[in-house]
Order: sequence, then structure tokens, then C-alpha cells
Amino acid sequence: MMDQASRLRDIVSQKKTTHSIKIYSVISGKGGVGKTNISINLAVRLQQMGKKVLLLDADMGMSNANIMLGIDAPRDLLTVLKGENALEDIVIKGPEGVDLITGGSNLFFMENLDTKRQREILKSLSCLGDYDIVIIDNGAGISKQSLTFTTFAHEVILVTTPEPTALMDAYRIMKALSIYELKSSIKIIINQVYNLSQGKEAYNKLLQTANQFLNIDVECLGYVFNDIRVGKSIMEQKPVVLRYPNSLASINITEISRKVLGDSDYNKGISNLRQLGNKIIRFFG
Ligand SMILES: Nc1ncnc2c1ncn2[C@@H]1O[C@H](COP(=O)(O)OP(=O)(O)O)[C@@H](O)[C@H]1O
Ligand SMILES: [Mg+2]
Repeated sequence: MMDQASRLRDIVSQKKTTHSIKIYSVISGKGGVGKTNISINLAVRLQQMGKKVLLLDADMGMSNANIMLGIDAPRDLLTVLKGENALEDIVIKGPEGVDLITGGSNLFFMENLDTKRQREILKSLSCLGDYDIVIIDNGAGISKQSLTFTTFAHEVILVTTPEPTALMDAYRIMKALSIYELKSSIKIIINQVYNLSQGKEAYNKLLQTANQFLNIDVECLGYVFNDIRVGKSIMEQKPVVLRYPNSLASINITEISRKVLGDSDYNKGISNLRQLGNKIIRFFG
């Protein structure tokens, strides 16, 4: 039987290896700050802007992106980890053609999620379709999963609200990424702001503390206003950018999507499938 690495090499060599793929890991310190909502709406907008997007709901055991989208996810990542399905069999179609892989909701199985199985997910990911962008929506805080996905991603997007508790937890995450040298730069979205100056103030606090105490580059990706239509769209199980395209939150997310694609880092950090495959092989052996 072929070993994993040679199987991967084989698959990668059959694909259009010049195709570029960019992986974003969306994280937060505190829970409930809006990661999933931002991930979904960013995915939809980026897809509308011409990118082929995969949304990976990696909040293992607590996944809810499919619920926010109002779509059934009969087969989830846990079934892949158990060996019942291949990763490509559990991809579901989301709005605007965004593909979705859902993490699963069986908390009890989580105890068995070891690093080896997680590696399998990442290995299979690079063999999937020709995505331009993969957005990984993580659970809150630092877990084994979010750390692996985050280390592996090209870019990390840290979501926080302006609340002091959320800012403190965001700082703790930045500190961990910096101290363990997992990432040298991070992009920040301040969500649920009541006005722009509140958002800027929150961002500046993070920036200044990071500059003073941490060895990590911080960049602001944007602000999303606290908008009643976000809650409404979640109740209606539709992405806010589709259900309420003219709402403030939708306009903010569109601006952030433009910034993501217009970013000078967008093409810099990108890997093609061959590089990504090699990186996984180097990383995991
Ligand atoms: N910009 C926003 N304006 C208003 N409410 C928001 C906004 N972003 C998120 N929310 C609310 O916060 C809740 C948590 O969002 P969610 O995306 O599930 O957070 P997380 O994935 O970080 O746990 C949502 O149910 C929604 O009602
Ligand atoms: Mg979430």
C-alpha cells in the first residue's frame, strides 16, 4: 500500500499544480464575537468577486456554519475522521456556489480527535478541488485543532469585539502566536462596533500592546458595525450580505473582502497546489 505522502505526491502531480490556493484561518480569543458570521459572509462575497471559495467549519463538535446557512450537512468531518467518508464526499454546496465542509456536532467523539487524524484532514484538503481561497472558521480560544490550522494557514484573521474582555482574550491569542513563533503577522477585524472611533480605539489598543510587548506584525482588516440585520439574517438562516446587502454590516464585509483581494500580501503569501502539497509533506511527513 502506498504511504500517505506518496499518495499525496501522486494526486498533486495529477492536478494543475500551478493553481494557487490561499488559506485563511479565522480565530478569536473569546467565543461569540462573530467569527462564523464573518467567515460565511466573507466566503460569499469573495466567491461573488470571482474566487472559488471553500469554507471549512473547523469548530469541531460545535459546528454551526451550516445552521447559519440553513443547509443540511448529513456527512461531517467526524465521519471522515472515523474513516467512513472521504473528504471530497462531504463537501456541500452553499449559497452563490461556496463549498462548505462542516465540522460535526458530536462532542463525545472529540476526545478521540488526535493530531494524526487532523493531519489527515489537512493532507486531504490539498487534494480537493481547485479552490482559490479556503476559509477555516475555528472554535474560540486555543485548541489543538485551531493551532494546527492556524500554523498551516497563509494568513490568520483574528476577530474581536471592542469589549475589554474580548480585547484581553484577543491579546492572549496574539501573545501565544508570538511567543511560540507560530505566526509573524496577523490581521484583525473588530466586529460589533457602534461607531468607527470605537473600532479604531479598540484596534489601536491591540496594536500598541502588540508593538510594545510582542514580536508580531498587526494589520487592521476592517470594522463591522453592530447591526440588527446580522441577528435577523441568522434567524432567517441566510448570509446577511445576500439577505440585507445594503445593511451596514454587509457594506463593511464587502469592504473587507475588497481589502483581502487588494492586499499586497494576497499574492505574496499564496502557494500553488504543488507548493502546498510539499509544505504538508514537510510539515507532517
Ligand atoms: N456585526 C454584528 N452585529 C450584530 N450582531 C452580531 C454581529 N456579529 C455577530 N453578531 C451576533 O453574535 C452572535 C455570535 O456570532 P457568531 O458568528 O456565531 O460568533 P462566533 O463564531 O465567534 O462564536 C450571533 O448570533 C449574532 O447574533
Ligand atoms: Mg463560530
